[in-house]
Amino acid sequence: MLSVGCLKENNDNDFRVSLTPETSKKLIEKNIKVFIQENCGLKSGFNNEDYENIGAKILKSSESIIENSDILISVNPLDIEFEKISKDTKSKIFIGNFNFKNIIPDNRFIFLALEKIPRIARAQSMDILSSQASIAGYQSSLLAANHLKKYFPMLITAAGTIPPAKILVIGAGVAGLQAIATCNRLGAKVTGFDVRESTKEQVESVGGRFLELNYDYDDSDKQGYAKEQSSEKQKKQNELLSEYIQTSDCVITTAAIPGKKAPIIVTKKNVESMNFGSVVIDLAGESGGNCEIGDYGEVTKYSGVIIDKPKNITNLVSEHSSLVFSRNVEAYLDLIIDENKVNLDPNDEIIKSTNLNLEAKIE
Ligand code: NAI
Repeated sequence: MLSVGCLKENNDNDFRVSLTPETSKKLIEKNIKVFIQENCGLKSGFNNEDYENIGAKILKSSESIIENSDILISVNPLDIEFEKISKDTKSKIFIGNFNFKNIIPDNRFIFLALEKIPRIARAQSMDILSSQASIAGYQSSLLAANHLKKYFPMLITAAGTIPPAKILVIGAGVAGLQAIATCNRLGAKVTGFDVRESTKEQVESVGGRFLELNYDYDDSDKQGYAKEQSSEKQKKQNELLSEYIQTSDCVITTAAIPGKKAPIIVTKKNVESMNFGSVVIDLAGESGGNCEIGDYGEVTKYSGVIIDKPKNITNLVSEHSSLVFSRNVEAYLDLIIDENKVNLDPNDEIIKSTNLNLEAKIE
């Protein structure tokens, strides 16, 4: 009988868990044994009994989880000393977000990197980058609303009319679109900008106004990702965006180029031009940040403006970030498990893209 083990995250700053009781229950119903490392769900609102009640078995140490399970799941890269795993141990499959790290070339171990899921329609239900980016976009709007000393919606009150807050969202990928949708739901006046032409319709469909900047920017590459702008084009973009940044109450930036440093879009001069009390939420902090001011993981006050570059933003809704991550894992397991056996079809585009060790064989 196939077994799946959920490892406790080795990163204390990340509150997520890779398998929730909901997914564990579905796996058990499919005749798969589920082992859960003790206390691994506590920070996302799931206690050990929640897992035991649906038939999962709690084990104390990561060693016992590894020993008992054929497939090991985690959110973050593992700090397991693979060379110490007994030579008699049969092959194991590790599934998680390996942050594009290359993993040791030991053919007993197969690493399936969920961050490498291709952005194709068939893989949407497994796409951890999208599910987590959407949470980040939602949460960035709430952070902006909390930092701003104003209402988001327009209100007509007995004490007079309050105008809506003006929000500018730069980068309209998964996170940006969710930020636009959330700010719009909160009643703010939202404008979105992206260098990819196709986002205009998407911005409008979630209630934003698309900002058309009059310059010849580079659109997307073959995979649909934004192209890195030349320095002249980035300069032109900054020049044209300046007046919109200056007049916004909040600027939320999500602009990223996969594998590259994030472009600087909100310059020091832009921050200085903003009104006292305005807010910048920079979601690109991990890849260097879109705002020239502030550090990743810090809230900085500069020239009266609050600049927040949140780290582990998914922690703020860790129950739901775990829930969607776990559902992504479940969809991926459905792809690789057939009749209680792992079947890694080398011709499947999703499996080919995620398998970091194509040489490894399952015993
Ligand atoms: P991302 O996190 O790589 O980048 C965020 C956004 O920043 C992108 O929209 C990008 O165009 C924009 N950006 C980059 N440089 C910029 C600049 N200088 N100024 C303004 N905006 C800038 O993007 P994400 O969210 O990972 O999406 C990337 C692509 O993948 C998109 O084409 C999206 O539609 C596609 N996608 C497809 C899926 C599927 O079909 N399964 C699922 C999710 C995303």
